[in-house]
Amino acid sequence: MLKIKNLHVSIDGIVILKGIDLEINKGEIHAIMGPNGAGKSTLARVLAGDPAYEILSGEVIYEGKNILELDPEERAHLGLFIGFQYPVEIPGINNVKFLHAAHSAKRKALGEEPLSDEKFLSYLKEKLEALEMKEDFLDRNLNEGFSGGEKKRNEILQMAVLEPMMAILDETDSGLDIDAMRIVACGVKRLLTPEKGLLLITHYQRLLDYIRPQFVHIMMDGQIVKQGGAELAHVLEEKGYDWLVPKEELV
Ligand SMILES: Nc1ncnc2c1ncn2[C@@H]1O[C@H](COP(=O)(O)OP(=O)(O)OP(=O)(O)O)[C@@H](O)[C@H]1O
Ligand SMILES: [Mg+2]
Repeated sequence: MLKIKNLHVSIDGIVILKGIDLEINKGEIHAIMGPNGAGKSTLARVLAGDPAYEILSGEVIYEGKNILELDPEERAHLGLFIGFQYPVEIPGINNVKFLHAAHSAKRKALGEEPLSDEKFLSYLKEKLEALEMKEDFLDRNLNEGFSGGEKKRNEILQMAVLEPMMAILDETDSGLDIDAMRIVACGVKRLLTPEKGLLLITHYQRLLDYIRPQFVHIMMDGQIVKQGGAELAHVLEEKGYDWLVPKEELV
C-alpha cells in the first residue's frame, strides 16, 4: 500500500535522505531503527508532507497515488497518519474540538456527515477507555502543558479517533513510562487489521516485543543499510550499530 522508491531529500541544501526504498503491504508491520541523526524523523516528516523539505528525486506511492504531490490534509484523508517524535502544543485549541474537527474532515472526505457533538463525545470516550486515558485530557488544550508521555498518548488517541489505514509512529515509545508503553502498544495493536499497515520508528526493542514487526530496517546516514526480521532488533540491542557499514562504503 505504501511504496517509497529511491527517495532523496534535502533541507537547507543538506542531503539527508540518500535513496530510501521501502515497501509496506497491507497487514504488515515494519520497524525502522537507526542511530541518532540517521534521517528517520526526516522520512516521517516527508511522508506527512512537511514543506520544509526538498524532494530531490524519488517517489512515494500510496494506494497508487504519488502522494508527494498532495498536501498534508489530502494525505490524511487517504488514511495516512503520522505520529510525531515531538508533538506540537497548540495553545488555545481545545483537544476535543481539535479531534472532532479532524474526525469530521475525514468523514467529509469519505462523503459522510460529521457526528453530532454528543455522538462524537461518546465515540471519543470509548477510545479513551481503550487507551486507559483520563477524561480530563479532553478538557485541556491540545498538548498545552502536557508532559512528554501525555503528548505521546494524546497522539495515539488521535490515531484511534482517525482509524488510519497506514500509520507511521515516530518514537511513540520514547518518554512513556513502562505501564504507558504497554497500554499504548496494546492500543495500537488493537487498531491493526489485515487491511492496515504500520511503520514504527523506534530505538528500543521493548516496543517491538509488544508489537512484533515482520520487517526491521536499519537506517544509517540517510540509507537503509540492512533489513531483516524481528530478530534484528535483538541483535541491535546486543551489538549496537558499530558492526554495520554505511552502504557507500560497501561498494
Ligand atoms: N534544518 C536543518 N538543517 C540542517 N540539518 C538538518 C536540519 N534538519 C535536520 N537536519 C539533520 O538531519 C539529520 C537527520 O535528522 P532526523 O531528525 O531525521 O534524525 P533521526 O534519525 O530521527 O534521529 P533521532 O534518532 O535522534 O530522532 C540530522 O543530522 C539533523 O541534524
Ligand atoms: Mg527522530
